[in-house]
Amino acid sequence: MGEYDLRDKRVLITGASSGIGWALAKAFAAEGAKLALVARRRARLERLAEEIGGPPDRKSVVVTADLSARGQAADAAQEVTEALGGIDVLVNNAGGAVGGSLWAVADGDEARADFEVDFWSPLALIGAFVPAMRARGEGTVVNVTSLRQVMAWPSFGQNTAAQAALALATETLRLELMRDGLHVVEVIPGPIETPIQGPTSLIPGITEVVHDRLGMASPEEISAMIVEAVKQQLDRVFCPETVREMYENPVEVRARTVDDVKRLNRELPPNELMDTLVIGADHPLLLQAREQWEQEHVSPPAA
Ligand SMILES: NC(=O)c1ccc[n+]([C@@H]2O[C@H](COP(=O)([O-])OP(=O)(O)OC[C@H]3O[C@@H](n4cnc5c(N)ncnc54)[C@H](OP(=O)(O)O)[C@@H]3O)[C@@H](O)[C@H]2O)c1
Repeated sequence: MGEYDLRDKRVLITGASSGIGWALAKAFAAEGAKLALVARRRARLERLAEEIGGPPDRKSVVVTADLSARGQAADAAQEVTEALGGIDVLVNNAGGAVGGSLWAVADGDEARADFEVDFWSPLALIGAFVPAMRARGEGTVVNVTSLRQVMAWPSFGQNTAAQAALALATETLRLELMRDGLHVVEVIPGPIETPIQGPTSLIPGITEVVHDRLGMASPEEISAMIVEAVKQQLDRVFCPETVREMYENPVEVRARTVDDVKRLNRELPPNELMDTLVIGADHPLLLQAREQWEQEHVSPPAA
């Protein structure tokens, strides 16, 4: 199979306003691709489009959408289709957040919003773009999931389930599209140095059992691996590479997690909060932790 040439290919990236999506947009642009950038924060997307540059007919298309709201992914797809006539590479990268015990978060609005960003919006975009890719006999879908698909952790249940759901849907999509010659990539990040690390550091025990064991990669490293996977038509990206072993040994990971949780139980979310604490994507604690991380690290300028 020859290398997939990204020159002049139309690439849509959700979650392009920060972290992995931001670095990935630059990496695809460096290959000569034409970009559609999707997220909520328009000023950041415009700043990114400006940094990427190019003549007027090659400027990145900026589309604002709140992917936690049902219907906005389909509207974004429509806007991108009107601007670019279609998409050759769809990258579902945007990620939501929700924390708290499984029973406090339950099926509340915060959990549903997380599933909308992490699972339903990617499927809405797949629904919008895959039929045209099939008709052309060419196209790539890249879904960014997480190591969390094989590693449960207290206070992370709904978010983990959303990542696992997208992972399995990605496997299914690959099987369904095999006969059309379309390419499906799953990106399985472990710790990557993005603003997500602010709120992640609030989760008791996680730094010790994940970050210290796996190490941390940069958004640029994972972006280079994703672009390479699209060009070489690889099925999966593990980053850091240490993630691969965990992904391939989920039974061992579960057993070790039981041991870790037994050992750390006293440090896990305080018992008195287990019935009440729900941290949705716009909870002040989470936003503050992100902001602080961004102030302390090199990151796209606040807008
Ligand atoms: N960093 C890690 O350690 C890590 C590990 C495992 C998996 N991942 C996955 O990697 C992906 C990228 O994460 P990241 O680390 O780059 O995080 P990040 O820097 O926080 O970026 C998240 C992106 O998602 C967008 N987003 C969030 N909610 C959205 C919404 N409701 N509507 C539209 N866009 C939304 C954000 O844009 P706006 O805020 O402008 O909307 C932002 O561009 C996520 O799917 C995440 O779960 C990351």
